[in-house]
Amino acid sequence: MKEFCKDFLWGGATSANQVEGAYLEDGKGLSVSDIVTVGSHTQPRIISLEQDEQYYYPSREAVDFYHHYKEDIALFAEMGFKAYRMSISWARIFPNGDDEQPNEEGLKFYDKVFAELKKYDIEPVVTISHGDIPLAIMSKYNGWINKDVIDLYVRYASVLLERYKDIVRYWIPFNEINDMFFPLSTLGQGAMLEKGTKYFTEQKDDPNARFNALNNMMIASAKTVIAGRKINENFHFGTMICHITRYPRTCHPDDVLLVLKHDLYYNNTCADVMMKGEYPFYTLNEFAKIGVELSLSAEEKAILKEGTCDYYTFSYYQSISESTQKFDDQTSGNIMGGIKNPYLKETEWNWPIDPVGLRYTLLKVYDRYRCPIMITENGIGCVDKLEEDGSVHDPYRIDYIKDHIQEMRKAVDDGVDLIGYMAWGCIDLVSVSTGEMRKRYGFIYVDRDDEGNGSFKRYKKDSFYWYKKVIASNGSYL
Ligand code: BG6
Repeated sequence: MKEFCKDFLWGGATSANQVEGAYLEDGKGLSVSDIVTVGSHTQPRIISLEQDEQYYYPSREAVDFYHHYKEDIALFAEMGFKAYRMSISWARIFPNGDDEQPNEEGLKFYDKVFAELKKYDIEPVVTISHGDIPLAIMSKYNGWINKDVIDLYVRYASVLLERYKDIVRYWIPFNEINDMFFPLSTLGQGAMLEKGTKYFTEQKDDPNARFNALNNMMIASAKTVIAGRKINENFHFGTMICHITRYPRTCHPDDVLLVLKHDLYYNNTCADVMMKGEYPFYTLNEFAKIGVELSLSAEEKAILKEGTCDYYTFSYYQSISESTQKFDDQTSGNIMGGIKNPYLKETEWNWPIDPVGLRYTLLKVYDRYRCPIMITENGIGCVDKLEEDGSVHDPYRIDYIKDHIQEMRKAVDDGVDLIGYMAWGCIDLVSVSTGEMRKRYGFIYVDRDDEGNGSFKRYKKDSFYWYKKVIASNGSYL
């Protein structure tokens, strides 16, 4: 069986709003993520524009990476990380989105983070926008529906590309850009708040605004790629897709057709635009049917065509099953759930566990895009118990990741050009869907709870020692 390539990028991933905290420190402005309260599996998070003392806003302190980055990066290095996927908080660099000058204090923080990564030879993989949009982009510009935001973003991105041109090679303009296919992402990705929205998971929707906002984001990505290639021709730009792998619940042809259509629409649209430079026919036809009119000039079409990405990245947590028939048993999942799959077990948050689905997905996307592929998120959210002696026994996490890596290896053997694996939430962080801390993904446990209590002390879980061996053996020890 083929091995993972010699320079395979083993690592972990986080996002600024889920780890940094220090939400107003050193000139940072409020981000859209700072106004969302804690929730739970059963209690939706509330979007609270006014500061309300009865609520706890978990992103504001998160796990305080802002003050613990040295310790955390040293722990990543101890595990042997070859790469660390992180994001930059837009609101730390342009606190109001449209400031005349970038905030030097914010940039200095990332200078220090990159210097620390370099010390340990850890390759940064940088997401430019991951849920951390300045709140002013929403309040002053109405978010991504406004074409002015394209240039504000490109200005922000260009500051990063220029400053870190000799430090960062791998860039990802937007996290899970296709989340914009779901109303759930109207605020977090689109920086838009439709009238009457209260809950993060049940946002009011205007599909025409949402898809136009997405269109503007993709134009901004293409402009960033074009600008970036002029700054350093060796930059790599990746699309980042929330890949919801779908299966027909039955072999009825109607179910098979349904899954094909959803795959074309939800999984392929953004990747096609960002990798191939144009919208797929199926989506344009669907948009016409639901009355979405894209504002896309000939000049913008040419920008999309020119500013394509060169590697494909995606998040993969689970698969879902779908049917045209009615099934009562439902599952949850990243962005969306589906019908229960009788062949799969589920996590405590009812996300199906499907390692084979990862191999299936790798084959499918490699066949379509024929470029290097990086898995930029994969992992399992669980309740962990910190023992009195400071240990955390998490065999379930080891099993989950082991089974997924095994399938990755098979995909490599199938001929897929897989260049990296970033385990999601390599250090415990704030969950996006529920705002909880108790839904933990990390190899590193952080003492912090859902009410904002805890010392922020870090502890190594059993999976920490296990992942270290996996990396040291380039994936042959599992
Ligand atoms: C992805 C996001 O959708 O899923 C991450 O890019 C997020 O930011 C991850 O944390 C897991 O979802 P959750 O809801 O468990 O945090």
